[in-house]
Amino acid sequence: MKVAIASDHGGILIRKEITKMMDELDIEHVDFGCGDEGSVDYPDFAIPVAERVANGEFDRGILICGTGIGMSISANKVKGVRCALVHDVFSAKMTRLHNDTNVLAMGERVIGAGLAREIAKVWLETEFEGGRHTRRIQKIADYENR
Ligand code: RB5
Repeated sequence: MKVAIASDHGGILIRKEITKMMDELDIEHVDFGCGDEGSVDYPDFAIPVAERVANGEFDRGILICGTGIGMSISANKVKGVRCALVHDVFSAKMTRLHNDTNVLAMGERVIGAGLAREIAKVWLETEFEGGRHTRRIQKIADYENR
């Protein structure tokens, strides 16, 4: 699995924690910033990651900002992306099982690095359940393709 990860200035600590976790678990990933340039705009980081997932260059994307809200709104504008804003382990699991989400968003001003690490780990390790859920996400794709 190949993961693209990025954050704005509000999500740097969690991004580094998750990058470290992916190193430890041998999960291939590329870090798309931000760096230490100070205050940046979250769409400039969310959209390139979401596009790379949508075009198949990466299997999954992880985005962190202060609340995760700006990142999730931006990512979900990209056709083919199903981004979930998640702050608990149960939702992390369910959004993979039922929604086949390909991008995960979290907010560093909402949860701590330890929980974010667990959420990301469960989200990366859980497979889509398929079955009736395939029909449901197909309806989203059909709407996108209208
Ligand atoms: C940046 O201050 C903050 O607005 C951003 O990180 C995020 O929370 C937006 O949704």
